[in-house]
Amino acid sequence: MSNGGRTKISELLKSADRNVEVTVKGWVRTKRGNKNVAFVALNDGSTIHNIQVVADVASFDEELLKKITTGACLRVDGLLVDSLGSGQPVEVQARRIEVYGTADPESYPLQKKGHSLEFLREIAYLRPRTNTFGAVLRIRHAMAYAIHKYFNDRGFYYLHTPLITGSDAEGAGAMFQVTTLDLENVPRNPEGKVDYSQDFFGKECNLTVSGQLEGELGALALSQIYTFGPTFRAENSNTPRHLAEFWMIEPEMAFYELEDNMELAEDFLKYLIRYALDNCMDDLEFLNKMFDEGLIDRLRFVVENDFVRLDYTEGIDILLASGRKFEFPVAWGVDLQSEHERYLVEEHFKKPVILINYPKDIKAFYMKQNDDGKTVRAMDVLFPKIGEIIGGSEREADYGKLNARVEELGMSKESLWWYLDTRRWGSAPHSGFGLGFERLLLFVTGMGNIRDVIPFPRTPKNAEF
Ligand code: 4AD
Ligand code: MG
Repeated sequence: MSNGGRTKISELLKSADRNVEVTVKGWVRTKRGNKNVAFVALNDGSTIHNIQVVADVASFDEELLKKITTGACLRVDGLLVDSLGSGQPVEVQARRIEVYGTADPESYPLQKKGHSLEFLREIAYLRPRTNTFGAVLRIRHAMAYAIHKYFNDRGFYYLHTPLITGSDAEGAGAMFQVTTLDLENVPRNPEGKVDYSQDFFGKECNLTVSGQLEGELGALALSQIYTFGPTFRAENSNTPRHLAEFWMIEPEMAFYELEDNMELAEDFLKYLIRYALDNCMDDLEFLNKMFDEGLIDRLRFVVENDFVRLDYTEGIDILLASGRKFEFPVAWGVDLQSEHERYLVEEHFKKPVILINYPKDIKAFYMKQNDDGKTVRAMDVLFPKIGEIIGGSEREADYGKLNARVEELGMSKESLWWYLDTRRWGSAPHSGFGLGFERLLLFVTGMGNIRDVIPFPRTPKNAEF
């Protein structure tokens, strides 16, 4: 394959060939030199490393060399030779240079000096050209690939669940409405309510918060499925761990009980982290050096150690006994905040924790009810620096119990009838969980803000680009 008529820089840097003609294309990171020779660091995104282009000033038109500034895009034909400098094994001795696109230094925002992550968020359309975002985006790709590989190798089917739905899977009500009604002139029925029968789908619809409910339909036929797609939550949470649009991976397995579910979640996370260590080391080393000195050690630690498994009730006891003053007070029945989760993981156990058997009142309606009448077979996987990375459960498979819970919570049976029906015909024990893709990436890259592990973040008051 011609690869656009060039050899990728990642390949050139590994190549054993010398004194051969090559063509390289990419964006200028820096140019330096003197009146005899110019050194241009070129990057094409195939690796964190640049290739050095050396141009003999006398052999090139002065006007052409002037156009080679940070951000410009070049084609360079030349000889691949051993590098005299210590920074790289090879360099390209330029014979011919073509400037595809200039980048005026007066206006191009990404200059050589380092920029703050906050500033880069404002120019998210350009930040993939930085070392940091190049590394993050390559790791993001590698993790997406590893997720599909993990499930494919284990006989799970990739199920595409709808993005537009009429139900609220998590029962949390934080949904974005989808409508084609004219907001300036909303049709009303005789009772004065919005007349959704005139809307595009003939009823009220929203963007999905989770593919789980449809995923369960798949699992109760194909045995093991997973989803991997965007999900949407209109929670007004401006935190470093929440996005309004995020990607989620949701495996769902027939015949799995909570124990099996925990085992899968732990194996899955370790596989993904090991995959990053085995395949993304260049980028991880860069991030380790620039942002988070403990990153690679932390990744290794998680791969090598068993996760702690603990009852919610025991977790609460530990928090109460800690003597710590938390911003949100602890008591049995409260939903854990990130400060509580991180205390358990980072200070008490110093390991990832799987917390199970949560109070039913703080968890979704579909979770299997325990015999104590108070708790459900929920599991959250809690990670250092992140808090909750996975949420899941064994599902309530009993029609009567599920129906009663839906009624108790005053949920709409009209929108859930098909889900309830799965418990009428051929119901089976089953379990599943959801991994937040960007939470995983926060952990694997060591970045501190979820806005910096997705190309174009959507958060309250922000949908630029
Ligand atoms: O715990 P959650 O809400 O669980 C579900 O949606 C279930 N339907 C999953 C299942 O059992 N199939 O979300 C799952 C995970 C969380 O643990 C977290 O990692 C991530 O999704 N997540 C978010 N990530 C970024 N921004 C947000 N606003 C998120 N909300 C949840
Ligand atoms: Mg959760």
